[in-house]
Amino acid sequence: METPQGAGIVKGIVLAGGSGSRLDPITRVASKQLQPVYDKPMIYYPLATLLQAGITEVMIISTPHDLPKFRDLLGDGSQWGIGLSYAVQPEPKGIAQAFLVGEQFIGGEPVTLILGDNIFYGRIGLEDVVASFDSGAYVFGYPVRDPQRYGVVEFDRDGKVRSLEEKPTHPKSKFAVPGLYVYDGDVVNVTNSIEPSARGELEITDVNKVYLDRGQLQVQLFDRGVAWLDSGTHDSLLEAANFIATVERRQSIKIACLEEIALRQGYLSHSALAASVAQMPISGYRTYLEGVLEEG
Ligand code: TTP
Repeated sequence: METPQGAGIVKGIVLAGGSGSRLDPITRVASKQLQPVYDKPMIYYPLATLLQAGITEVMIISTPHDLPKFRDLLGDGSQWGIGLSYAVQPEPKGIAQAFLVGEQFIGGEPVTLILGDNIFYGRIGLEDVVASFDSGAYVFGYPVRDPQRYGVVEFDRDGKVRSLEEKPTHPKSKFAVPGLYVYDGDVVNVTNSIEPSARGELEITDVNKVYLDRGQLQVQLFDRGVAWLDSGTHDSLLEAANFIATVERRQSIKIACLEEIALRQGYLSHSALAASVAQMPISGYRTYLEGVLEEG
């Protein structure tokens, strides 16, 4: 495929607003995406997914109430050698509204969107998509037990997408579309062309349907080894924490350690990381990074 301008994608949005009502009362003071998933705030995981894929300009979108806390936690991104910016979604009027809030940031270029409560583990292949992306839309598919809670994608016998439905009562397949999406810069126009759904939201599934009708939607199923966890309920939050803890303890590695990823991706020099680790409080996180620094 021709990839003019060197193509690829550098921009990503983490959508971290919403009401988090299912986690009440936990979410009364700090939003869902600030809650811990084992040893890190939840938002570290989607951020790590973007950084690992080569995305280095990230916009965080959240509520007027929570955005300052994300800014306190994550700063301007320079500690990871990336750029972070922030924007408010005044009310949770749908996932696709991220493209209208982020219109200036997107600036007509391709963009990746990830939901702030979606955790991906394993080889999801996003770096390949990001490196070679040209135009259209690219989403993923993952078999789940309860597809009626998600956007559902149905395939025909040749593996071509036949339909997309948002939270169908009678799902036509078991494949949900996870909260990780890639679009060309036209996504802002596409979002402006869709109407809010019956529940008053700009639905990401409706955006995807426009690309599907144009013959520009690609859907890639994740390999079997990939884990996709969403952490929107008490049980799924606990399960996600247990999953991360199990893998980390067993392998003596950390999942979604942003400093380590920045070093390995070359966003941050060894000396810059050493300087920042020296400022960290004594903790397991710091000890881990000292080990990373010693290795190389
Ligand atoms: P949901 O889990 O659908 O909604 P929620 O986070 O508000 O939680 P609850 O259903 O318990 O009230 O949202 C999925 C993700 O998308 C989550 O990270 C929040 C985010 N989101 C927004 O930031 N803005 C929105 O308008 C919507 C609909 C979701």
